[in-house]
This record gives sequence, C-alpha cells and structure tokens, in this order.
Amino acid sequence: MNRPIIALDFSSKSEIADFLTYFPATEALYVKVGMELYYQEGPAIVTWLKKSGHEVFLDLKLHDIPTTVQKAMQGLAKLGVNMTNVHAAGGKKMMEAALKGLSEGTSKKLIRPTLLAVTQLTSTSEAQMQQDQLILTSLEESVIHYAKSAAEAGLDGVVCSALEVANIKKAVSSPFICLTPGIRLKNAGTDDQKRIVTPKKAHEIGSDYIVVGRPVTQAKNPYQSYLEIKSAWNGETNG
Ligand code: C5P
Repeated sequence: MNRPIIALDFSSKSEIADFLTYFPATEALYVKVGMELYYQEGPAIVTWLKKSGHEVFLDLKLHDIPTTVQKAMQGLAKLGVNMTNVHAAGGKKMMEAALKGLSEGTSKKLIRPTLLAVTQLTSTSEAQMQQDQLILTSLEESVIHYAKSAAEAGLDGVVCSALEVANIKKAVSSPFICLTPGIRLKNAGTDDQKRIVTPKKAHEIGSDYIVVGRPVTQAKNPYQSYLEIKSAWNGETNG
C-alpha cells in the first residue's frame, strides 16, 4: 500500500518525538524533513529517523554552483536519505552534478537516493514569476520546461502541483515521478494552500507521491487522519 509522505514541519526533535507517539511503533512511515527542522537539528535528525525505521525525504531544495551542489549531495547520500531535491532553476549542469554527487556518495550495496527537481514553487503566481524572474511565458510552460530539463539531466522526477501532473507526464517519457503537496481531504480546511486536491483525486491524476503536513500533524488524532488519507490515496475510500 502506498504511504503518504508526512511533512514533519516542526522545529525540534522533541516535538517530533511527541508527534510520533501517536503512531504504533511498528508503523514504518515515509517522512519529509525540511529546512526548518534540518537547520536546527542538523544531520542527526535524519540518522535518528532512519534508525527508527522511517524513510526520509530531505527537502532542502539545493540551488548553487554545480561543484558545491555535487559535494553537498555526496554528504546527503552518505546520510542515507531516501529522496532529496534541487531547484530546477539551478540549471541542467547543476542537476547533473547533483545526481553525480548522490551516486558518488552512495555505497555500492545501497540504492542511490531518488532525486527530484522543484519546478516553480506553488507559492509563486504567474505574475510574480514574470516580474521577479523575468520569465515571460505562462507558469504552466515554465513548469513543463523545468520538468523536461530535469528529465534530460537524468533526474527521477519533479515536485509539482497535482494540477500539473497530467501535462508533465505527457511532456516527458516515463518513468518520471511527480510528487505533489497541497493535499486535503474532502470538506477539510485549506490552511494557506491555494491549489489543493484530495488524496483520491491525486491518485486518479497520477501523482506518484503525495506530501501531507497539517492535515496529519495538526489533527486531534494524527494516526487516524493518516490512515484516512492513506486509504483515500490508495483509492479505497472517497476522501
Ligand atoms: O501542511 P501542508 O500539507 O500544507 O504541508 C505541505 C508541505 O509541502 C509543507 O512542508 C510545504 O513546505 C511543502 N511544499 C508545498 N508546496 C510546494 C513544495 C513543498 O506545500 N510547492
């Protein structure tokens, strides 16, 4: 059964430890560690989560010169992360270097971590993209362009809105992962997300992974919410 990835948007290990007590100890989770947590707790947070039996998507969105990104990725591979990412805006050479770094850092017995590219952040509107980045095309076209560059650089996929999955899948050859945040159960609040889809819809659209934060982390009963989202994501219920 596919597991939704839980965004551990907390700022300390103790908050995570408290949160994880809601889950049975035997429930192996796929969790996302972002900048907020990583920059406060450091690499130890990843090794701790891995030792506890969870898979880790390290969402640091690297964007720097190719050599720097390559070396950073060597280190992240050694940490044993299962998936990580870069900004496609860093360019094809940077994405190739990131992939190379991950391969170099992965021990022979292990599988290289999955590498995704962030296309346009879902917090960026088309007007902002045009003004701030001087990309004078549609947001959709920019996202497709970045997805194609990521595929050409050999990356495994992209982080994108579920609403962009169909067009991305048409534009690049498979297999190509589309990982999508902005997921809410039917009739749930939206928080600050603007373009949301239900887990069931994300499944139908063809998202390969969904990332869910507040609907689980802020729930009264996080495990119950997790199971509801997981069932809907696997097409078993209507949520
Ligand atoms: O709480 P919520 O489900 O909205 O959390 C979504 C998670 O996915 C957050 O960690 C957020 O930073 C991340 N994310 C996102 N949109 C993107 C990329 C990442 O919401 N385009």
